[in-house]
Amino acid sequence: MGTADSKKDVLHVEGGKPLSGTIKVRGAKNLVSKAMVAALLAPGTSVLKNVPEIRDVSVVSDLLRLHGVDVNFDGENGIVAIDATKVYLADVADVDTLSGSSRIPILFSGPLVHRLGEAFIPSLGGCNIGGRPIDFHLETLRKLGAKVDKEHTDGVHITAPDGLKGAKIHLPYPSVGATEQTLLAAVLADGRTELSGAATEPEIMDLVAILQKMGAIISVDVDRTFRIEGVKELKGYTHTALPDRIEAASWASAALATRGDIFVKGATQPDMTTFLNVFRKIGGEFDIRDNGIRFWHPGGDLHPIALETDVHPGFMTDWQQPLVVALTQANGLSTMHETVYENRFGFTEPLIEMGATVQLYRECLGALPCRFQQRNFKHSAVIFGPTPLTGRDIEVPDLRGGFSHLIAALTANGPSNVHGISLIDRGYADFRGKLFALGAKIG
Ligand code: EPU
Repeated sequence: MGTADSKKDVLHVEGGKPLSGTIKVRGAKNLVSKAMVAALLAPGTSVLKNVPEIRDVSVVSDLLRLHGVDVNFDGENGIVAIDATKVYLADVADVDTLSGSSRIPILFSGPLVHRLGEAFIPSLGGCNIGGRPIDFHLETLRKLGAKVDKEHTDGVHITAPDGLKGAKIHLPYPSVGATEQTLLAAVLADGRTELSGAATEPEIMDLVAILQKMGAIISVDVDRTFRIEGVKELKGYTHTALPDRIEAASWASAALATRGDIFVKGATQPDMTTFLNVFRKIGGEFDIRDNGIRFWHPGGDLHPIALETDVHPGFMTDWQQPLVVALTQANGLSTMHETVYENRFGFTEPLIEMGATVQLYRECLGALPCRFQQRNFKHSAVIFGPTPLTGRDIEVPDLRGGFSHLIAALTANGPSNVHGISLIDRGYADFRGKLFALGAKIG
């Protein structure tokens, strides 16, 4: 994805100062955008609370509006009201203007096909952290009876003249998006759908809660199989989005790397237990309170760790990048085996230029061989610390990698200029304001 290198898009950081203070996280980016799409399934108004002011929310709002849906976002209070009574087919050229801006448009497929009999999905954006194909999504839609036409060079045209019908579907890998695709398409399909090999991330379960409020019938078995009984119609919902556990963990890693102390208001324990265990093993301290979690560096050495990313309830891939920066400050050798994306270590190159010692390997340096074994992907990292970091010019590569660079710049001695900073607005609401609140020297 491109980054406009205007003056506004560069953040000057004077590092070497512990971040300390209180910030607040709202609802999870990776639920909110999907919840907004779910509103499309029902005529009437849906109300979503705890919505962060991030660019993904404006992209989905724009896309909904192009389809005739009325979207009202009260950013100050974090409430979005979506009236999907009126839905029409958007102009293909208009939809195309949003192509490349997000991964979410593909999830419009099922709801639009139910409401209008057809959908046009622009080519997708999102972070450049691997191939990120949509084959599982399209296969799922085909199994449910849709005709998928990839003729349009910049997108996909999906039709289902006879409507969608329940089917038996198995995902070759527990993809978050393909699981959501199936849920959003199957709830109004004719008959039952069985989805095995699904992902069960907390954000997905929150989407299931929303769909249940709307009138859907969905159950999940212990072996990650969803069973969906199609219903004839759904109604609008009112829901408070679960907190953003990725943003919370990002700030926690920032506290650790900068030897700081951050109270993350709004963070909750249940969906972060895996992260909290790792945070404690490394030597970080935390205090879980009713209204949030305080994370801090207690002084002394941080400990190295051997870790691998995995689907829920494993250690999230989105927690990996910010934590790697903290691991450059741990005393000894850490390993990180990335098993979700084949190409999520590109962000370590600037870290090395700042003084970190990170070596990448094609081998699976973890307990289990993953899908990327014997393939040409450098998907394991060895991090040796502690290494002092020195500030420099950095170009933000992707959302989480970009936030990690920000943490590195805040940890480093001397000034850094972080370019392409607006990319971080996709998923971190008002991060500049939050950095000021934590005493960061930025400008
Ligand atoms: N995959 C396929 N084919 C598909 C779909 C996925 O091969 O059709 C592969 C992907 O290439 C990847 C793996 O399956 O290697 C997992 O991808 P998944 O579908 O689970 O990811 P996603 O739905 O595109 C969401 C989040 C990501 C998060 C992943 C994993 C959103 C908008 N994005 O992506 O979040 O990393 O799940 O938890 O929900 C982020 O927030 O920075 C971010 C990248």
